Amino acid sequence: MDQRIVIVGFMGSGKTTVAKALAARLGCGLADLDAIVCAQQNKSVPELIKEQGESSFRDAETAALQVVLDRQAPRIIALGGGAWTLERNRELINKHGCLTVWLDAPYDLCWQRITDQPAPRPLALDENAARELYRNRHPLYALANLRVEVTNKMSADDVAARITAAIQRRVITKH
Ligand code: S3P
Repeated sequence: MDQRIVIVGFMGSGKTTVAKALAARLGCGLADLDAIVCAQQNKSVPELIKEQGESSFRDAETAALQVVLDRQAPRIIALGGGAWTLERNRELINKHGCLTVWLDAPYDLCWQRITDQPAPRPLALDENAARELYRNRHPLYALANLRVEVTNKMSADDVAARITAAIQRRVITKH
C-alpha cells in the first residue's frame, strides 16, 4: 500500500486540493509539479508560458517530473493538467511504477472553477479553447490506472476518501 500516487486531470478538476486532502488522510508527503517548476524559476505558470512559450514550459515540467520521480519521495504527486497528456511523461510515470488516478470532473465544473480563480490559465483563456482541449484530452486521461468521478457536491476530502477506497479495492482484488 505504499505505491506512489500521481493525480491527473483537467484544469479545475481539483488535483492540488485533492492531493492535499489525500496526503492528510494517508499521512504522507506531497509534491505539486507546477509549484516545483514555478519555484525553480521564481515565476508563475502564466509568466513562464508567456515569456518562454509552452514548449519550454513542457520541457521544464518533464525535467521536474523526472527529478521528483527519481527521488522516491514524496508519495503523492499532483501534476499540472497537461503533463499526463504527453507520452514521454506517461512513460516516465509508468516506468517508475506509480499508480495514476484521474480526477474525472465534468467540463462545466472545470470551467466554473477556472473562471472563479483570479490566476489566469494561459491554455484556457476562452471557453471554446478550453472545451476543445477538454474533449481532446479526455481519452488520454482515461489511460490512468484509476478513474474517480468528481462532482460539484463533493469536497476535496470526499474525493480523497473515494481514492483511498478505490485503491483498497484494487489491492484486495489483486491478492
Ligand atoms: C496546464 C494546466 C495548469 C498548468 C499550465 C498548463 C494544462 O495546471 O500546468 O497552465 O496544460 O492543462 P492546473 O491543471 O493545475 O491548472
